[in-house]
Amino acid sequence: METKQLPEVKMFQGYQTLFVDEEPYVILGGEVHNSAASGEAYMEEEVWPNVRDLGMNTVVAPVYWECIEPKQGAFDFSTVDDLLRQARRENLRLVLLWFGLWKNAESMYVPTWMKRDRKTYFHCKKASGEELPVISPFCKEAVKQDREAFTRLMAYLKEQDGCRTVLMVQVENEIGLLGSERDDSPTAQEAFLAGMPKEVEEEFRLSGSWQEAFGEEAGEYFMAWAFAKAVEEIAGAGKREYPLPMYTNAWLEQFPWRPGTYPSGGPVRKMFRMWKAMAPSLFTLAPDIYVPMVPETMDLYTELDNPLFVPEVRKDAACATNALYAVFGCHGIGFSPFGVEELNMDPEKIDRIPPEVMAALNIDPAAFDMEGSAEYLKRSYELIKNLLPLYYRLRPDGDVHAFIRKDPREQGTVVHAKGYDIQLDYRRKEQGKPETGGVIFQLEKDVFLIAGIMCGITFHGKMGSGKTAELIRLEEGEWEKGGWKPGRILNGDEKMFVSCKDNFVLYRVELLTV
Ligand code: DGJ
Repeated sequence: METKQLPEVKMFQGYQTLFVDEEPYVILGGEVHNSAASGEAYMEEEVWPNVRDLGMNTVVAPVYWECIEPKQGAFDFSTVDDLLRQARRENLRLVLLWFGLWKNAESMYVPTWMKRDRKTYFHCKKASGEELPVISPFCKEAVKQDREAFTRLMAYLKEQDGCRTVLMVQVENEIGLLGSERDDSPTAQEAFLAGMPKEVEEEFRLSGSWQEAFGEEAGEYFMAWAFAKAVEEIAGAGKREYPLPMYTNAWLEQFPWRPGTYPSGGPVRKMFRMWKAMAPSLFTLAPDIYVPMVPETMDLYTELDNPLFVPEVRKDAACATNALYAVFGCHGIGFSPFGVEELNMDPEKIDRIPPEVMAALNIDPAAFDMEGSAEYLKRSYELIKNLLPLYYRLRPDGDVHAFIRKDPREQGTVVHAKGYDIQLDYRRKEQGKPETGGVIFQLEKDVFLIAGIMCGITFHGKMGSGKTAELIRLEEGEWEKGGWKPGRILNGDEKMFVSCKDNFVLYRVELLTV
């Protein structure tokens, strides 16, 4: 098999960018349901046919520790082989999710031999002494076993994946502790009472006990330190074997905003500094976004130079606009709605997540409302693919402007381009339609390319310049193979007001200032 250059994340035009086959690459992805990749036939019948027609280039899929090491020390990579073979046949890439010691703040994917031995692989405890269903990050033996299994996985990929079907690996999944702010198992308690380790003191320039340093947030900082150190041990070893880009993902802080109601110690924004200092093998911390504030959350996860990758996100119709904003607004590495195979699935066949599980996961049921999503997401992904070369060409000069409605109360926005102010009037949100948003490229001094949804567009001369803008030519069309492919020339009634409807239209606009 041909050996290609390793995927890597490196600086390009001032942004951390994923390079695949030595070219910038944006993941236009979708994550499959948790159990999908454990069944080859299920993937064949229910997943690949349903993701084929969504404009995706990458599938995000789990690798389960319980499947690859069913007996301690005996490895079976058949589930990985199935994924590699099927993805290559479909001409799709993979991001693999390592469901190891921690998945959604529990230890549900560890092999049964580990589940049975609770003495060696001890669990976190509440202050009351009650055991929680999560193996403690202070259990050195458990972390060692995970590190060993993960390293074997990476070695296997190194051997089997010279063509680089696998682009990146997520280490663990929505890590943290639910049900308590911090682990009170005897080993954890001892560590807590021993005070902050030097590395934490140095990073935060604080001293004293955890409590003195972090006050009421001590428990969460302590758990973030413990989980980040464990992940670093696992990811670092895996990377030394096969250095693919690695990241971990977060169950976000949510109402009622108390660690333990969301996983305490996970990579929420507040814990970035701890995670980045303690887990330098990770190139980013990724948000799983089921809350309604998708664009704001994406903005938040670009802070502290954190490149945006969204491995899981709501799959309502708004995902089409959110995908565009992730790429052109946040300069993201990728976007991937969760349970993507359902978008094109026969509704009768959808194995809906029971309301009790959604409540336990604190997921807004509307996040899984799929009316219109397949059609809109496909259009958005295809548009992004076509526009990426133009984006790389114009971005260095500041000639790409993305916009999106972040709050239902927003009436609109004004894009300040060179020589013109462009007013975008947001339309009312409609059920089953994407959110208002889009992107504007300034092609030349007086020429713009605009892709938008659910908004009106008005052109002005620059404020204070005394000039007005006149629309002298309006065309609809497509941007394909690096150039404009015109459709209708819009004039007369169709030019009196420039308006974007419920799916991305592309306009080429020529203006004049008078
Ligand atoms: C977030 C988790 O990371 C996913 O694996 C999945 O459980 C979804 N929640 C909900 O279905």
